[in-house]
Amino acid sequence: MIGKLARSVREYKLPSILSVVFIVFEVILEVFIPLVCSDLINFIEGVRMPGADEAIWHNFNLLNISTGISFPGDLEASAIGYVFIYAAILLVMAGLSLTCGLLSGMFCARASAGFAKNLRKDLYYKIQDFSFENIDSFSTSSLVTRLTTDVTNVQNAYMMIIRIAVRSPLMFISALVMAFTKNWFMALIFFIAAFLLLGAMALIPKRAMPIFNRVFKKYDSMNLRIQENVHAARAVKAFVREDYEIQKFDTAATDVRKDFTKAETLLAFSNPIVYFIMFVLILITCTLCTVFIVNGKTIEGYESLGGKLNLGDLSALVQYAIMILMSMIMLVMVFVMIVMAVESARRIVTVLGTESTLESPENGVKEVADGSIVFDHVDFSYAGDDEKCALKDANISIKSGETIGILGGTGSSKTTLVQLIPRLYDVTEGSVKVGGVDVRDYDLESLRKNIAMVLQKNVLFSGTIKDNIRWGKEDATDEEIVAACKLAQADEFISQMPDGYDTYIEQGGTNVSGGQRQRLCIARALIASPKIIIFDDSTSAVDTKTDALIRKSMAETLPDATKIVIAQRVSSFEGADRIIVMDGGKISAIGTHDELMKSSVIYREAYEIQNKKSDDEEGDNAIA
Ligand SMILES: Nc1ncnc2c1ncn2[C@@H]1O[C@H](COP(=O)(O)OP(=O)(O)OP(=O)(O)O)[C@@H](O)[C@H]1O
Ligand SMILES: [Mg+2]
Repeated sequence: MIGKLARSVREYKLPSILSVVFIVFEVILEVFIPLVCSDLINFIEGVRMPGADEAIWHNFNLLNISTGISFPGDLEASAIGYVFIYAAILLVMAGLSLTCGLLSGMFCARASAGFAKNLRKDLYYKIQDFSFENIDSFSTSSLVTRLTTDVTNVQNAYMMIIRIAVRSPLMFISALVMAFTKNWFMALIFFIAAFLLLGAMALIPKRAMPIFNRVFKKYDSMNLRIQENVHAARAVKAFVREDYEIQKFDTAATDVRKDFTKAETLLAFSNPIVYFIMFVLILITCTLCTVFIVNGKTIEGYESLGGKLNLGDLSALVQYAIMILMSMIMLVMVFVMIVMAVESARRIVTVLGTESTLESPENGVKEVADGSIVFDHVDFSYAGDDEKCALKDANISIKSGETIGILGGTGSSKTTLVQLIPRLYDVTEGSVKVGGVDVRDYDLESLRKNIAMVLQKNVLFSGTIKDNIRWGKEDATDEEIVAACKLAQADEFISQMPDGYDTYIEQGGTNVSGGQRQRLCIARALIASPKIIIFDDSTSAVDTKTDALIRKSMAETLPDATKIVIAQRVSSFEGADRIIVMDGGKISAIGTHDELMKSSVIYREAYEIQNKKSDDEEGDNAIA
């Protein structure tokens, strides 16, 4: 898992390494500061000791030789000068430590944000290659969560790892070593206290983590509820289901609150525990050090415990104690964050490790000879399971340039049948041939470029009308766009819009009507002059007259293209060479209108019901 994620660090390796290097310098400076402080305090204490003059003058002379600074003869004035030198050293050290900290933070931010960008890019590219089957298996909302929230969790964990996970152990070890040089007995006490704290702290996440894991799942379902509701806001209002939806959301939100309260309460315990242990340790340090300071100078025997301490050493030891405990606390916090991110990392790696169930073959056929289509004993199942076939033993042979209608009840597998032509799914058994070649032998991009499909669930993207039409052909000229829109009977309504072809389409195409959206999608499909055109119920929202006009202009402008039209209206098959009747996943009949009127009960009934309806409508109109 780590290997797969680490691949996304790429060009951000250097900032990651630099961040760690600067942290090392920062920590080294931080642990040396108490040492210098302790020397300073020891010196001040020495000045105030009776009879200390001689030793201090010795120090001054040494400093005078090494730095060239001369000290006035007066002891007190010289001592103050000495203190200023210490202060300057401390200031430089603190400044350097601050600079290292800032540089490390800057490189860390750059590295983690870059890593997240690469990770998102890798995920996004992977998803672009996914087949419909892959997308079905993950679900769209789950893929979106993985690209957003999960990547953010992993990014935060990465930041924590390169900063705190390096800093804490380093700080722990170096502060412990420094404490050891001052007094081994005190260092031992710090070591024991650190592990006591680690034990106490580790218990909390151990109990809180299962609750957190549970709460994240509930969080997911709450998000799904919000997403579903916002997405279907119009339906919710149309069915006056606001109260029901609010109730559903309330239950989900309360569930999340309860578990979060439990988990957060457990985590909240950590602060008082930490402070308690810290104060106890400081108390022990001060007491013991005082004993060492007082007794070390008067009573023999304490030296075996590393005795003989000065006031400055006490101050350094207290600071090291705090550093050691703090580093442990940080380590536990990082651990909690990493554990939380593991689930996100797992979800990301699953996507990265999923191979598309549809691969374009190497050296695949790039030329589609013509628009002929053959279904040869085709079985298809969405789950890949032969028992639950959505399509069973389909056999059809369509000549290039033919116009084919497909009729059938809902769920009779009309969409399933046509989705196999541009290889949106692979057949389970048998084969589908386009232009005489098995679709699996084509280079996927070349095959799909030659087949235009207006999907049943069509979508427009945010952008101008021109941008949307250019999805069908990237380099389409303005004239080509207008021609395609004229063909799809869309030119008229586009011209009436204030900005014409530059009118901005909102996300999902919410600012155009259903019929207008369908016509724009048809124009988008027709612009590339494909060899095969498939309309999956694409004129259902268009009035009968416009529907007929689209068919007529298409027959005139693209006479060589094979046209497959799925429709619920029998009138949409006017001009079709043959019509396929689907029933329960099987092809129940194929033939011309006249043939089917005789041979297919389904077709005849559909025709009679619809004609009777239109007769009635005409009658009603006549009365009116
Ligand atoms: N992505 C999918 N995953 C699993 N099963 C599916 C999927 N899409 C469709 N099905 C199932 O396959 C069967 C045929 O569906 P299909 O969409 O082809 O019907 P259709 O004839 O196009 O219906 P409609 O007229 O409503 O569009 C249905 O039983 C449906 O539940
Ligand atoms: Mg369908």
